[in-house]
Amino acid sequence: MTNPPTITDVAQMAGVSTTTVSHIINGTRYVSEDLKGRVEEAIKTLGYQPNSLARGLRRGESKTIGLIVPDNSNPFFAEILRQIENIGYEHGYSVILCNSDGDIKKEIAYTDLLFAKQVDGIVFISTNNSYEHLQQLTNKGIPIIIIDRDIPLKSTDVLLVDNFMGGYLATQYLIQLGHTKIACITGPSLLTPSAERVNGYKKALQEANLALNPDWIIPGDFQFTGGEKGIRQILKMSTRPTAIFACNDLMALGVMRGLRNSGYSVPQDYSLIGFDDVPLSSIISPALTTIAQPINKISELAIELLLKRIQLNEEVKERTVLPVQLVIRESCRKTETT
Ligand code: RIB
Repeated sequence: MTNPPTITDVAQMAGVSTTTVSHIINGTRYVSEDLKGRVEEAIKTLGYQPNSLARGLRRGESKTIGLIVPDNSNPFFAEILRQIENIGYEHGYSVILCNSDGDIKKEIAYTDLLFAKQVDGIVFISTNNSYEHLQQLTNKGIPIIIIDRDIPLKSTDVLLVDNFMGGYLATQYLIQLGHTKIACITGPSLLTPSAERVNGYKKALQEANLALNPDWIIPGDFQFTGGEKGIRQILKMSTRPTAIFACNDLMALGVMRGLRNSGYSVPQDYSLIGFDDVPLSSIISPALTTIAQPINKISELAIELLLKRIQLNEEVKERTVLPVQLVIRESCRKTETT
């Protein structure tokens, strides 16, 4: 029986050093795609089996987990960061907090960095829908928990909230207050949370036999300024809605400021409902009626799932969708009968 191929055989076939082969296998240093391709080709040709036991032993030693979010200036992600770091710390893990800042290149660089830092696992919120870089990490045996924004990565656990129901409840509540002209300021249309909230908004209108006015679906961006821009667009309309569903609280706060700067008030002139229930929403005046995401439950479950994957490394992955809740405060009122 011939000896199994060694790392030296791979290095010779690929025309690189054994150190380079080791860095490529362990992801511990950036290597050009060309070199990576030659080494991977040699590994495949020779049928080389890296010492996965050693690599396996390498995992689970750092007691460190990574957390990547798209925008830590957004109070929703800030709260997720705070709670996941807290809960991870209580379980004896340090948490490396990464802000991709909506930049996919930065997100990829952070996934490479977290692998190089030998984190035991990653909680991940996508900045857009690409996920090839995540597939590479899961192929290397790194447990990843996808939260908040759904991406079709097979080998990971996914933890979401019922965004469709949230959009439906928000709109149904406004209809129950007598509003028949309701606008929706959306988040980025490519992101699943926003798309599903808008679908819930449409369903509630349809069930109430209210016509859908496409002019009242205003493209937004989940940012404060996106809310201000959206309400400026609405105030220019000849036929205006009487209520606004903003697909996240930050935009709802922008709507509130935009209305105030134009001499209007909430809820006297316009009813306003948001989505997230960030801490700020209950302390501003008027306090914001919103759809609450169970941020504490999301954070607890994300850590629980990740620790399970780190310790057990089971193959079966879970997909969990948590319920959301309508929180009624001061920013909506019954409409005058028109
Ligand atoms: O406020 C940020 C939004 O982006 C939240 O609604 C959250 O669900 C994320 O997708």
